[in-house]
Amino acid sequence: MGDTDKSMLVSHLGRKLLNVVPMLLLFSLGFVLGMISDSKFPNFYLPFIPPMPSPTPFPPLPLLPVSSPPPPLQPTASPPSPLPTQSLPAQVGALRFMPNNIMHNMTDEELFWWASMAPRVHSSPYHRVPKVAFLFLTRGDLPLWPLWEMFFAGYDGLYSIYVHTDPSYTGSPPKESVFYGRMIPSQKTKWGDVTLVEAERRLLANALLDLANERFALLSESCIPLYNFTTVYALLTGSSTSFVDSFVNHDSEVRYNPFFADRSNISLAQWRKGFQWFEMDRALALEVISNDTYLPAFQEYCDAVPACLMDEHYIPTLLSLTGWTHNANRTLTFADWRMGGVHPRTYWRDDMKVELIREIRGGAGKNCTYNDGANGICYLFARKFAPDALEPLLSLAPKVMGFG
Ligand SMILES: *[C@@H]1O[C@H](CO)[C@@H](O)[C@H](O)[C@H]1NC(C)=O
Ligand SMILES: *[C@@H]1O[C@H](CO)[C@@H](O)[C@H](O)[C@H]1NC(C)=O
Ligand SMILES: *[C@@H]1O[C@H](CO)[C@@H](O)[C@H](O)[C@H]1NC(C)=O
Ligand SMILES: *[C@@H]1O[C@H](CO)[C@@H](O)[C@H](O)[C@H]1NC(C)=O
Ligand SMILES: *[C@@H]1O[C@H](CO)[C@@H](O)[C@H](O)[C@H]1NC(C)=O
Ligand SMILES: *[C@@H]1O[C@H](CO)[C@@H](O)[C@H](O)[C@H]1NC(C)=O
Repeated sequence: MGDTDKSMLVSHLGRKLLNVVPMLLLFSLGFVLGMISDSKFPNFYLPFIPPMPSPTPFPPLPLLPVSSPPPPLQPTASPPSPLPTQSLPAQVGALRFMPNNIMHNMTDEELFWWASMAPRVHSSPYHRVPKVAFLFLTRGDLPLWPLWEMFFAGYDGLYSIYVHTDPSYTGSPPKESVFYGRMIPSQKTKWGDVTLVEAERRLLANALLDLANERFALLSESCIPLYNFTTVYALLTGSSTSFVDSFVNHDSEVRYNPFFADRSNISLAQWRKGFQWFEMDRALALEVISNDTYLPAFQEYCDAVPACLMDEHYIPTLLSLTGWTHNANRTLTFADWRMGGVHPRTYWRDDMKVELIREIRGGAGKNCTYNDGANGICYLFARKFAPDALEPLLSLAPKVMGFG
């Protein structure tokens, strides 16, 4: 590998920089030696390395199930023709040196830098099947994982999973679980704090490293899917917008502080609120991880104000600051706030009834549009379900949710 790297590196640069070839040779020799002597560590700063063939091609993809999802859904973009034969490399950047492993030693700074890279050439030499990235922001255990396991069964290659836990958490799902080995390097988070925003950005950045990920859904350990995978996948990948809750009204304005104008020129008119559980597309995910202009103001504010609840303001306000239009301005994740207070209602074992799931699937009193047309689906996911709701949920899934 060293020889080809060296000769391609030289030929790549040599054309333009003939007179510095001797210097380059010295440099690349040192560089190859460096790689050999430090083989335990992937070198994160390797410019001009020609792409290596993907060491592990994707397992054969299951054909999309033919069952028809709700009417106005459009099929996802077809691959460019003539059909490229090579499948997309699983990951880009640093992680290409560590295939099949999402754990890495990059700092956040390194991670965001790699994740922010986006191809500008539209026609791809690779066959790309879009995937949905499920981002689990949790404290520790995922008590409802057997339900999710049922949901994902049979759809390998169409989804990827990333889990951010408290760094002190040492548990692990069983080896045969789809959650096994999907934990990303994590940092401490605190309820209502800007550290939650940082964790969300960390999840997005890790998922962006996989170029096949097209949609990004943020979930908690208390979330459940309301529909089967086919429906969730079709609705997310077929949508022309992201689904990030973002609104302006009296409720949204109460946490605005003139500090944001002084510090970052954010006006009350630009201030937004929204529940943090989002489903966004790749373009918005890239913006969220790479636009760090306003984050320091939110971090400083939260340092001074405990429980600043900036997890409910940062991304909605960023959308408004950047004038983002491809957003439905609503989330697809249901939570019941009808009782008031700072937490939504928690559903326990005894609440698990067919009628409850039916009501939420019916929009819980709301009508929703999708790609500018009426469509019955307001919510794809729901929270908050207690661990003891698992057992009844497993038997409700085939009855009302269409899977299992
Ligand atoms: C991260 O670094 C530690 C020691 O510094 C090493 O033991 C571990 O294998 C590294 N992990 C990866 C994924 O490179
Ligand atoms: C998924 O659910 C939809 C209804 O939401 C149903 O029409 C379809 O048959 C289900 N697909 C599978 C593979 O079970
Ligand atoms: C601050 O915002 C106002 C209005 O939104 C704009 O006119 C002005 O140029 C901005 N100033 C800076 C320093 O960004
Ligand atoms: C973030 O978005 C604002 C508004 O569009 C823009 O002025 C700023 O340059 C962006 N910052 C970065 C780092 O992209
Ligand atoms: C969401 O809000 C933004 C900004 O307020 C707006 O430009 C956009 O059209 C809205 N999206 C929909 C689907 O209404
Ligand atoms: C939703 O649509 C139905 C049928 O068009 C209508 O009867 C109902 O009042 C609507 N509900 C809301 C909350 O707008």
